Amino acid sequence: MQNAALDLSDGRNFAQGFPHEFFTWLRANEPLYWHPPTPVTPDGEGFWVFSRYADVDAVIMDPNAYSSDRGGTRTAGGTTIKDEQSAGRVMNQADGLLHRRLRAIVNEGFTVKAIAGLEDELRTRTRRLLEGLEIGDRLDFAHRVAREIPTQAICIVLGVPETDRLMLVDWIDHGIEAPSEAVIAEEYSRKIRRYAQGLILSKRASPQDDIFSTIVHARFEADGSTLSDHELRSFFGLLFPAGAETTTRSISGGMLALVERPAAWRALRAQPGLLKTAIEEIVRWTTPSCYKRRTATRDLRHADKLIREGDKVTFWEMSANRDERIFEQPFEFQPGRNPNRHLGFGAGVHFCLGSVLARLELRVVFEELLASPLNFALDGVPVWMPNNRLVGLKSLPLRVIA
Ligand code: HEM
Repeated sequence: MQNAALDLSDGRNFAQGFPHEFFTWLRANEPLYWHPPTPVTPDGEGFWVFSRYADVDAVIMDPNAYSSDRGGTRTAGGTTIKDEQSAGRVMNQADGLLHRRLRAIVNEGFTVKAIAGLEDELRTRTRRLLEGLEIGDRLDFAHRVAREIPTQAICIVLGVPETDRLMLVDWIDHGIEAPSEAVIAEEYSRKIRRYAQGLILSKRASPQDDIFSTIVHARFEADGSTLSDHELRSFFGLLFPAGAETTTRSISGGMLALVERPAAWRALRAQPGLLKTAIEEIVRWTTPSCYKRRTATRDLRHADKLIREGDKVTFWEMSANRDERIFEQPFEFQPGRNPNRHLGFGAGVHFCLGSVLARLELRVVFEELLASPLNFALDGVPVWMPNNRLVGLKSLPLRVIA
């Protein structure tokens, strides 16, 4: 290895943003790289790092060979570098029939029509946020705008009453921001589970006009089963990191890209039709869900490497989305990029359940920003989350300018 090897399991190596330089080197020199063991690979083994688009795509598209739950004989499973307790129980960490059943049931709630029904409320909320801003104001955009809309969107999907939202989001923050303080995180996740259970019982007894009520009552066509309380609680818990944290990071990362490129901002204002491709470019550019892991279910040959049964294979969508073999000038942010076959929402059977909602949120937020008379400039140094799993900004200090 020519380049100083980075420990990719250590969030601190992402504290200045995604380590693009290292991945550019990997794509060119060691596209199928065997990463040595780290303190978070408890079986003392290393893991593969796939960085080129074609290799990433090949793994995502072959769930029989590469399991999201577990595979082989030696390792526990899940989709992160470290093993997950929830493997085999949550939709994104399930394979085969179990995954098909969970996905088919929740799909009933996530219809395009159901998602379109959220637009008015999200737009009203976005307008209200922007109307509160005046020239000269300073704000942390990541917190005040980027975070608010996706969190509200998930609460609306789940039918969380308005009066409970602040409390719930506070518990979720504690659960996410105190990962090293396991006792505190556990206390908050217990509160969240208890809250979810109460909500499930109430939606079961009297369904309301929200997507979660549809999901609580939806049946799997093949055997008529509904989701169990445990499955519903897991789904409830999954949507905050999978749905709110990801979209938050795309909105703030997209805003940073535009604030740094006033010409792109002006082009979007002059040509609103450009927003459609710009949204895909924002997802490619930010790729908040930057890697996944699978486990090989059998011995496989991939290019010139032997992947053994039980080997952990991580694949890096962020790196695939910067692959020079697929994207022209991948390190340029081009609002009009077309085609743009990015892997920001994954692909195959686990393709993002919330992509329609995420695209709607991005469209509403940027349409409203561009339609408002406000302009923005950087007002300090953006700070990245020291997190390798969800890449994005912790804070984005902006100033409102004329
Ligand atoms: C910009 C925002 C988003 C990004 C970048 C993103 C990214 C992804 C990716 C890459 C996957 C594939 C996971 C895998 O292959 O293991 C995924 C799956 C998933 N996403 Fe999203 N997501 C976003 C927004 C959302 C939203 C808004 C929701 C919820 C409403 C959501 C819910 C899910 C769920 C439940 C899965 C698991 C699907 C399955 O396993 O079948 N995501 N997402």
